Amino acid sequence: MRETMNIGVAGLGTVGTSAIKLLEENSELIAARCGKHLHVKAVCARTRGKPRGISLEGFDWVEDATLLASRPDIDLFVELIGGHDNTAKAAVEAAINAGKHVVTANKALLAIHGNAIAKMAEDAGVTLRFEAAVAGGIPVVKSLTESLAGERIRRVLGVMNGTCNFILTRMESNGSSYEETFAEADKLGYLESDPDLDVGGIDAGHKLALLSSIAFGTQVDFAGMDIEGIKRISITDIELARDMGYRVKLLGVARMSDSGLEQRTEPCLVPANSPLGRVENATNIVLLEGETTGPVYLMGAGAGGGPTAAAVIGDIIDIARGRTISTFGQPASTLKKVASTRSSAELAWYIRLLLVDQPGVLARIAAAFGDANVSINRLRQYGHDENGAPVLIVTHHTQREQLNHSLNAVRKTGLSLREPVAIRIEDG
Ligand code: HSE
Repeated sequence: MRETMNIGVAGLGTVGTSAIKLLEENSELIAARCGKHLHVKAVCARTRGKPRGISLEGFDWVEDATLLASRPDIDLFVELIGGHDNTAKAAVEAAINAGKHVVTANKALLAIHGNAIAKMAEDAGVTLRFEAAVAGGIPVVKSLTESLAGERIRRVLGVMNGTCNFILTRMESNGSSYEETFAEADKLGYLESDPDLDVGGIDAGHKLALLSSIAFGTQVDFAGMDIEGIKRISITDIELARDMGYRVKLLGVARMSDSGLEQRTEPCLVPANSPLGRVENATNIVLLEGETTGPVYLMGAGAGGGPTAAAVIGDIIDIARGRTISTFGQPASTLKKVASTRSSAELAWYIRLLLVDQPGVLARIAAAFGDANVSINRLRQYGHDENGAPVLIVTHHTQREQLNHSLNAVRKTGLSLREPVAIRIEDG
């Protein structure tokens, strides 16, 4: 007879209920693959009687997540509560202290408290896994901690918030404003209960912070990240970028350089025909660029009950098989603390200007860029209207600092009628 691993599940939202359903539906297949019977013993959630599409009859109901986490008859605790300073943290800590393995989908918790929690788990001799926390059903944590464990990673880059990608691609396909499309995403139930987590870039930032820790062997440093969401992206920029062969994506980008770790979550342009440029709607994509592997792309469903639950179950199976990988791919005490740096890389930029329409203006603007040593790759004027002459510039690769000098020089000419719009261009 197969050994049983008893599981406690805290949080019965779409991911929790999907995980319970999948564990039941695939129980034979899972048992055959991991050699153990995975049995959900007890559950807890905020409200007991809520319709969830699953029966809770076979499970013990526990009122409190911390009590569930430390129950003696639980071997593994699944935390699907969410949030970083609440019940979830107390419950995960209680599980670790009680010697239980933990599987969580909680990116916020690990982005803020991951170093301490990983250390706690190691000291207690338990395993803590979090595949479901980053890009839902895409096995990106596993790819970094296992398949690419021997690889020096140069860059991690990804579209890791499906809601933002949905909004940006819908704005482009419908020609609609940010506000209209945000309302549509809201109606479809795509937004987190605090929408700023999505459109403010925070959710994507949490995910990036976890991936960069594994990729670069560094302590999780969410506080050191530059974060900007998609609220400033107008339909004008989306359409003009498309005209220049680009699409706007909310990207998480992490790179290590001699000056430190650069981590940014911000709207960027990527070539429209690149893998990142082609990712539509709520789909996620992550690019892991290894020194010898070159670019490795992982694409799929970044959210949703089923895909995220599949990632949770993959982690549970790993633990049932007796695999004991450190949370961030190496012991927490060996993760380096590194300085955070602002954009070490030379990149191309998209600049949108509204200029006074009179003879010699373009020459003076071009000189402002040239004097700052920023080379113009492409320049296009879109006629002129009563407001002025809209002009687009795509620069050659340049340092952020030089670009800032050139934009200051443009402002000083007095020929720029509106604050210039500047968006980075990343290779996708
Ligand atoms: N709100 C997230 C997204 C899903 O839109 O991608 C959960 O991480």
